[in-house]
Amino acid sequence: MRSTPRPGAVSSTVRRGLVAAAVLALGSTAAVATATSASAAVSCKVNYSASEWQGGMSVNLTIQNLGDALNGWTLAFTFPNSSQKVSQGWSGNWSQSGSNVTVTAMDWNKSLSTGGSTSIGFNGTWSGSNPAPTDFKINGVSCNGTPQSPSPSPSPSASPSPRVSPSASPSPRVSPSASPSPRVSPSASPSPSASPSSSPPPPGTHVDNPYSGATGYVNPDWSASAKSEPGGSRVANISTAVWLDRIAAISSGSAGNNSMGLRDHLDEAVAQDAANGSAPLTIQVVIYDLPNRDCSALASNGELKIAQNGLARYKSEYIDVIAGIMADSKYSNLRIVTVIEPDSLPNLITNVNAFQACQEAQSSGAYVQGVQYALNKLHAIKNVYTYVDAAHHAWLGWDTNFQPMVNLFYQVATGTTAGVNSIDGFIVNTANFGATVEPYFTINTSVNGQSVRQSHWVDWNWYVDEQSFSVALRNALVAKGFPNTLGMLIDTSRNGWGGSARPSGASTSTNVDTFVNESRVDRRIHAGNWCNQSGAGMGERPRANPAAGLDAYVWIKPPGESDGSSSAIDNDEGKGFDRMCDPTYGGNSLNGNNPSGALAGAPVSGHWFSAQFQQLMQNAYPPLS
Ligand code: GLC
Repeated sequence: MRSTPRPGAVSSTVRRGLVAAAVLALGSTAAVATATSASAAVSCKVNYSASEWQGGMSVNLTIQNLGDALNGWTLAFTFPNSSQKVSQGWSGNWSQSGSNVTVTAMDWNKSLSTGGSTSIGFNGTWSGSNPAPTDFKINGVSCNGTPQSPSPSPSPSASPSPRVSPSASPSPRVSPSASPSPRVSPSASPSPSASPSSSPPPPGTHVDNPYSGATGYVNPDWSASAKSEPGGSRVANISTAVWLDRIAAISSGSAGNNSMGLRDHLDEAVAQDAANGSAPLTIQVVIYDLPNRDCSALASNGELKIAQNGLARYKSEYIDVIAGIMADSKYSNLRIVTVIEPDSLPNLITNVNAFQACQEAQSSGAYVQGVQYALNKLHAIKNVYTYVDAAHHAWLGWDTNFQPMVNLFYQVATGTTAGVNSIDGFIVNTANFGATVEPYFTINTSVNGQSVRQSHWVDWNWYVDEQSFSVALRNALVAKGFPNTLGMLIDTSRNGWGGSARPSGASTSTNVDTFVNESRVDRRIHAGNWCNQSGAGMGERPRANPAAGLDAYVWIKPPGESDGSSSAIDNDEGKGFDRMCDPTYGGNSLNGNNPSGALAGAPVSGHWFSAQFQQLMQNAYPPLS
């Protein structure tokens, strides 16, 4: 799968023009966001909750407004140690000068009612020691947590959490409205025993985040492949997705070593659930058989063709059968997450002009209607969750692609029976290699007066990594009309980029290209490369609520399953030979005419690729223990 277009039709000259306008617009938004009501009496409390590792940290902050309603806020604090640096913040405009950090509100979280709270956060770096700041100011006033009379203090019952989350804190989900957040802040309830009322919802309830408090299903097919590799048992119990990559996969398993059909998996999931005790079990299933599948590439072309009645077959022989099985009451206590059609809708944004198969997917309406049909059938089952594929930052991160994609998602959703509610969330980076977070620079970093956006690597994109992209996409989708319960997933199965080539800090170069190339952990030759990337490692292990707006980090692409063959190989799965999987290929306009960066010796997509699995383990980041 995975064609990764650059912004296609738009030349970089045009993009430069767009850039200037957008920067101006951002400047004025920030100015508006900092304006506060002159008469507001400020009283506040800030919780600072850091998880840290050697040299790095990920911090969630919750700002509670105990004073008058605020329409705009600026948070300021000072790091006690001069080595402490914010590398990427979210849910606010972050800046740092020396040890002083300032965060201004975003448009959607600038209003904080009395008793209201909002969660923001950042990833950062440190050396020596990493003490928490002690003084936090909102609009210049120290937050000592003393509520002002007559403002009521927030009562604990104002923020009920229906969930227990033993492994991760409840989602600090962003709230575009000023109303008090129904969620508990991450720092407020680190312990599952915090409150007797936080018992898990009854099994089978459609919860907001199906990963919260749940155990992930271990796919025995993948687990056996992983275990067969030296060292593979270190990862063999990690939850990976089940791919239904053809009609036959529903009864007898997907490509490669996989032999379990959907019922086999769901039966096994019920058994794992029973063995697990009280935590619910989440199983992930990839819906991946649209007619004209993978229309801009060849490696994962599928069995159905639009011209050969593919849409009707997709509905009756594929989606109906899957939905029929998932609706079986035997499975009603499972949380079944579906990942819907990787690459399909994004191809309609960027690849219609360049690829005949995508043109046909659009003009026939087959992709839109296929996805809508899947959503209608799957959303109707109470314990099934739908996450629609939203490509990745190096596909949709330019203005020319970003908003059109948001608009298309909205159009697709509003054409379903349940409208925007038929989609629980979106997933980015499925089977791709984009870093979750670039730790040593952000999109706001400048070098010698030049923005990193001007570097060849970033190429005027608005995002440098998947987390910043997914949070921005979520905000845009909510602004468009999706509910604020929308949650994002990031596929982190192969975006770790550890090993000896990983930089250990920001470059000191004053040349923006050199700076970015020496600082980035994503070591691909070009961000448009997508097939069996050499040097990649397994990424963050799956976990719930990793950051504001994100439901989970997940492993959707099973590490070790190939993206495509490195030379032409006959197969009966409809798969072609895509030269982006050939390490000798010099590339095309979609990857800036760079080498493909693919590993040699790769089998057909979905088939086990031992050498790749070994490299993914070796370069895992965080490293495997
Ligand atoms: C690719 C393959 C598909 C496989 C999936 C997961 O997209 O085309 O057959 O199931 O990857 O490895």
